[in-house]
Amino acid sequence: MKAARIYLLLHILSTTGVLVNTFDPFTTTVVIGVGATLGRTIYNYLHESCDSKWIAFNATGLQVDLENKLFGQHIASRIILKAVNGFMSNSNPKKPLVLSLHGWTGTGKNFVSQLIAENIYREGMDSSFVHVFTSTLHFPHKSQIDTYKSQLQQWIKGNITNCERSMFIFDEMDKMHPGLIDSIKPYLDYYERLDGVSYRKAIFIFLSNTGGDSIIQTALDFWQAGRNREEIELKDLETSLSLSVFNNKQGGFFQTSLIDKNLVDFFVPFLPLEYQHVVQCAMAEMKARGLQPRREIADMVAKDLVYFPKSERVFSVKGCKTIESKLDYYT
Ligand SMILES: *[C@@H]1O[C@H](CO)[C@@H](O)[C@H](O)[C@H]1NC(C)=O
Ligand SMILES: *[C@@H]1O[C@H](CO)[C@@H](O)[C@H](O)[C@H]1NC(C)=O
Repeated sequence: MKAARIYLLLHILSTTGVLVNTFDPFTTTVVIGVGATLGRTIYNYLHESCDSKWIAFNATGLQVDLENKLFGQHIASRIILKAVNGFMSNSNPKKPLVLSLHGWTGTGKNFVSQLIAENIYREGMDSSFVHVFTSTLHFPHKSQIDTYKSQLQQWIKGNITNCERSMFIFDEMDKMHPGLIDSIKPYLDYYERLDGVSYRKAIFIFLSNTGGDSIIQTALDFWQAGRNREEIELKDLETSLSLSVFNNKQGGFFQTSLIDKNLVDFFVPFLPLEYQHVVQCAMAEMKARGLQPRREIADMVAKDLVYFPKSERVFSVKGCKTIESKLDYYT
């Protein structure tokens, strides 16, 4: 894809160059001028740049994606849509958008980040304005925390200087060193400018398992009381969620002032997934692969997964995480 673009660009420029030789000096200057402008236009057209051609929020697209591709997450879906819509339609936000996504593995946290990116950046997750950091991958050694700190600060500053509509996704936030979280705090706050750079149009998304247990407990309480999971509301989770975020001694969250300074705009809970949602994930994945979705295959995939609690087998241990490889096996 990239190679083809560059080839086309070179081709057009060299064609313009050939033309130049056949004209007198005056025309040559004009042609070179036009050629340069044309070249720049073509370059912008082919090469991702920080403008509305490459970065344009599609509110309908996000809504449709959340409705059709994300399963079993009525609360998360609603919060994300409202938060991102509100932020992206505000031409003068007072601070960057900071979302903290909580829940167990396979419930859709990474997937939602991807949907947000795809509906803002034409290149989606491949955009050069979307940055993903995974704690255990990018910042593995405690001893190098000071290097990581200055590196991360430079990256955030450098990238936002390049493009104010940048997006930063921090995966495994619960494994991130508290000092490192502290070092990005200034960028999340209500500053007009820091060292001449405005961070207000950026989006920060934190992903973690923190609070996952208490979310599961609430979902299980509802299930055991025979209540519909759609009846679970944010307020049913909020108290236990922020308490467990505060008290999680493993995670760095509780030591930092992300929460008590209100730098996080939205805490977004992801519920554990049930059998029916795994079936939906499998059907959607078959469709995405260009296959005719078949319920009996989706059922086989869903039956292959492990569910908990052991006796009732209500929730999928890994959510929808392993269905891709299971599908390879059954199709
Ligand atoms: C926005 O998303 C909708 C629904 O997916 C799609 O039909 C439409 O073409 C998109 N608009 C743009 C400008 O990409
Ligand atoms: C932007 O962030 C990436 C990491 O995602 C980093 O490698 C790069 O150097 C940063 N760019 C600038 C200009 O700081």
